[in-house]
Amino acid sequence: MRAVGVTEFGGPEALHVVDVPDEPLGEGQVRLRVSAAAVSPTDTYARNGTYAKRDGVTTFPVVPGMDVAGVLAEVGPGVQTDLAVGECVMGVVVPTGAHGAYREDLVLPAGSVARVPADVSDVEASTLPMNGLTARLALDRLALEPGQVLAVTGAAGAFGGYVIQLAKAEGLTVVADASEADEQLVRDLGADVVVRRGDDVADRIRERYPDGVDGLADGSVQDAAVLPAVKDGGAVATVRGYPGDGARGLRVFPVWVREYAQRADALDELRVAAEKGIVTLRVAAEFPAADAAEAHRRLEAGGVRGRLVITF
Ligand SMILES: NC(=O)c1ccc[n+]([C@@H]2O[C@H](COP(=O)([O-])OP(=O)(O)OC[C@H]3O[C@@H](n4cnc5c(N)ncnc54)[C@H](OP(=O)(O)O)[C@@H]3O)[C@@H](O)[C@H]2O)c1
Repeated sequence: MRAVGVTEFGGPEALHVVDVPDEPLGEGQVRLRVSAAAVSPTDTYARNGTYAKRDGVTTFPVVPGMDVAGVLAEVGPGVQTDLAVGECVMGVVVPTGAHGAYREDLVLPAGSVARVPADVSDVEASTLPMNGLTARLALDRLALEPGQVLAVTGAAGAFGGYVIQLAKAEGLTVVADASEADEQLVRDLGADVVVRRGDDVADRIRERYPDGVDGLADGSVQDAAVLPAVKDGGAVATVRGYPGDGARGLRVFPVWVREYAQRADALDELRVAAEKGIVTLRVAAEFPAADAAEAHRRLEAGGVRGRLVITF
């Protein structure tokens, strides 16, 4: 079975097509024939070895990737599901070793998989699970009430975009950051107020909300720099583990999508949100497996809007 991975850590050029055996199918698991795997920033760290120590990587190949779509190929013992073999499904992957999204044959817990949205290609569907679930988790932790104000940084990105759209659907007021070039995009995603992105984004938000916002989702990973935007006692969701500084009673929630990696119910709600047009699936470009290195090169160059997707 083809996969895209590394046999030694390195730059984008280290990614290449590798041959991997089928994964064994166990209790409570399903097998997917993957046709699309979205490329996320975290995949570049799996590729270059940043996560190797944390994850105890000792053998190669390492196959990155956290998002897939494809066909349900097999249902393991003990799985309760209304999904049928042959249906198009999407899934979230917690990668380890050769078990990552960039592979044709993939076994996942049944709880990590849901039907793809109607009238959506596998390539589009593959952009939803990981960042959609992270956005859901962030909003669940922030637990704001309708009418409260949420700030979103990295708003033009995949995570930020889903946060804006889900928050608007729940009746929140959203203030989002953007470069001049991204301003229309972020407005189209539903932001009520747009402020210029940058190191001083907290000041820009305070200019519009002098008492501070009720909550903030920090998709640009600016950590301590964004805390001043939030009112005393407000809530912050961070995406790379920043725990806050303990000041002003702020409640800082480092969110990790693996907490929601078996929330098929939440993934299915995202399917419905996509079908209703509440969330938009944005694809920047597709790359056949043999050209995966180019996808990583483009992502690392910055400025990509919409997801890059590897196809099998
Ligand atoms: N903890 C988890 O479970 C989890 C799950 C999902 C995502 N994440 C993390 O969440 C972050 C966002 O993911 P994503 O997929 O949405 O990434 P993305 O699509 O690349 O979006 C990130 C956005 O932030 C902008 N940005 C980056 N640095 C900035 C800065 N210093 N100031 C202002 N804007 C900045 C980027 O602009 P440019 O493209 O112009 O640089 C881009 O618009 C990543 O760090 C990712 O690893 C964590």
